[in-house]
Amino acid sequence: MKKIVLSLAAIALAACTQQSVQQTQWTDAEIEQKIDEILPQLTLEEKVALCHAQSKFSTAGVRRLGIPELWMSDGPHGVRAEINWDDWGYSHWTNDSCTAFPALTSLAASFNPDLAFEYGNAVAEEALYRGKDVMLGPGVNIYRTPLNGRNFEYLGEDPFLASQMVVPYVKGVQQNGVASCVKHFALNNQETQRNSVDVEVSDRALREIYLAPFEAAVTEGHAWSIMGSYNLFRGQHCCHNAVLNNILRNEWGFDGCVITDWGGAHDTKEAAENGLDIEMGTWTNGLTSSSRNAYDGYYLAKPYLEAIKKGEIDVKTLDAKARNILRLMFRTNMAKNIKSGCMGTDAHFATALSIAREGIVLLKNENKVLPLDPQTTMKIAVIGENATRSMMGGGSSELKSFFEISPLEGIKSHFPKAQIVHSMGYASGPEMFGRVLPSKLNADSLMNAALETVKGADLVIYVGGLTKAHEQDCEAGDRVGLELPFNQNELIEKVMEINPNIVGVFVTGNAFAMPWIDRMPAIVQAWYGGCQAGEAIADVLTGKVNPSGKLPFTFPVKLTDNGAHSFESAEVYPGRFESDSKEFYKEDILVGYRWHDTKNIAPLFAFGYGLSYTSFELSGIEAKMSGKKLTAKATVKNTGDCSGAEVLQVYVGKKDSRVLRAQKELKGFKKTTLEAGAQQTISIDIPTDKLAFFNEETQSWEVEKGTYVVYVGTASNNIAAEIEVEI
Ligand code: GLC
Repeated sequence: MKKIVLSLAAIALAACTQQSVQQTQWTDAEIEQKIDEILPQLTLEEKVALCHAQSKFSTAGVRRLGIPELWMSDGPHGVRAEINWDDWGYSHWTNDSCTAFPALTSLAASFNPDLAFEYGNAVAEEALYRGKDVMLGPGVNIYRTPLNGRNFEYLGEDPFLASQMVVPYVKGVQQNGVASCVKHFALNNQETQRNSVDVEVSDRALREIYLAPFEAAVTEGHAWSIMGSYNLFRGQHCCHNAVLNNILRNEWGFDGCVITDWGGAHDTKEAAENGLDIEMGTWTNGLTSSSRNAYDGYYLAKPYLEAIKKGEIDVKTLDAKARNILRLMFRTNMAKNIKSGCMGTDAHFATALSIAREGIVLLKNENKVLPLDPQTTMKIAVIGENATRSMMGGGSSELKSFFEISPLEGIKSHFPKAQIVHSMGYASGPEMFGRVLPSKLNADSLMNAALETVKGADLVIYVGGLTKAHEQDCEAGDRVGLELPFNQNELIEKVMEINPNIVGVFVTGNAFAMPWIDRMPAIVQAWYGGCQAGEAIADVLTGKVNPSGKLPFTFPVKLTDNGAHSFESAEVYPGRFESDSKEFYKEDILVGYRWHDTKNIAPLFAFGYGLSYTSFELSGIEAKMSGKKLTAKATVKNTGDCSGAEVLQVYVGKKDSRVLRAQKELKGFKKTTLEAGAQQTISIDIPTDKLAFFNEETQSWEVEKGTYVVYVGTASNNIAAEIEVEI
């Protein structure tokens, strides 16, 4: 029996690997022709049924014509466990575990677009195995505030980096005949009052910062679906917002489906006329509470059907939706060749490990404390709840992983001769209905036990951070401050008083304050690393992997150093909910390092920053304009004693601009791996139209003539040369 099972698994694996060979699919022309044939055969009722949920995560097909149901699943980091038909409960299947990939901030920190493609491809292969046609991710909302509960699901503060990473992810997903559903469109940059906050932002910031990754996902990644966000923009819900729809469809030429966030539709006429195709969620009052068989009450269900029958809404709106939905189906569950997918393969586990490894950022390494000798016989005290805490939660991106290697397990397996003792040091409270209750464990006894443990240790490895529970990097709530929670700062200070030989490993999806930083010799930012987190962390601590991650967002020293918080005003963040729920993004285009550079506020750690166990030098830096192209060139040399990877970064700023401009903006990057002593000359081409600003008067992109400054370096605050060029 075992032999047969093994061969079946081998076939599944082989089938999955063979699948990457691109099979012929319907051409666009064939798809449109098929839609033309089907549309006239559909009744009004059948077309309306396509436009709204029939269950939590599916829409009805047209059984009479053999049109299948459309199945969707969260999330950006892997295929979520099966959820009940009518409510948010899990179905407790025994075959819906998945590979839990690292959170997208880890992918962004890798600055490696090839990994993004591999990531998307692996997630889609597991989606196929589970019979899912649409994967609800990736999220590309820009990191505006370090308090946003869902930043861990997104790709950081810079629109260019987010764009460069989302395009290959979407292509990796869709090459399998699974649709990406890029979310949340748009301006969903916080979780506080996410259903009611009404964002006001300039056209420039809207275009240059917040829509840019969505534009790339659509125009370069050809995303087949987009998820509207819960919030409002200029007074209209984003799931059926005329302004956003006009940009999405008429300017970017989006031909896919707009799907609401769950419960994000609020008006039948707007939903009919402003480009929404599929209403998901549950009850129609916008709540996501479950109501059995509420689906006929959806805005795009009976009310829509009746409005069309009464002539109040044009049936053309319905035909447009049906056309978009059928197009999505011909690309996915009615494709010419349907793939079978695979789940939990060694290849997927390897991909998860690669991403976790490449995302880890070495923030500090005084006197080369790291890497540690894997053969050491030292006594190592591992302190912190995050050394053992499961990090599979976080809201809709939560996963039922086949396995999860904790930091403590990774450390134990990588230091076989060391004496390793773990003490929690602090305890995060249990989460109850979106509130964090204090832990039942006594905080003093936890701290005292930890302090005892570090007394006799040769080395302390502190593993702390946030928890992916409510207000600690989790959907539906923002953090309450920049500080680490559960009294970690006091614990860290006291541990260091007793034992200054400490390495800090932080598992978070957000920036956090480090008041003790001067006394901590080594600091590793490890993100939420997925099922292989502990393996990747220990690989870096032992030097098996040389860290090469770069920060995808700025770490401010204090919260008010961040643009959105510098105004210290509720109407700038999180919104003035005692009146009209308006929120004004007054920092405008100056998000993240753009704010710090332009306002000259030194960050704790800068965007694009990350150390290595080796060292690199740039030389031969040039920048020149030729025709409609700016070319920046540099030779990167590994001047250290071990191989490693560096990320060459090119930023551009406009001198004497007639409009507000950030000092510099990332416009190109390239990661290169070099053996010790090796060097490589890298050339990065930047089309001049990528240097444009959005002219609000003409409502169009404009490339100013005049002098530009090209900044070439390896971090936004580590620039090796500034070269002026003329357009
Ligand atoms: C949630 C999230 C969205 C998710 C959807 C389905 O509210 O905002 O990202 O895909 O609902 O779970």
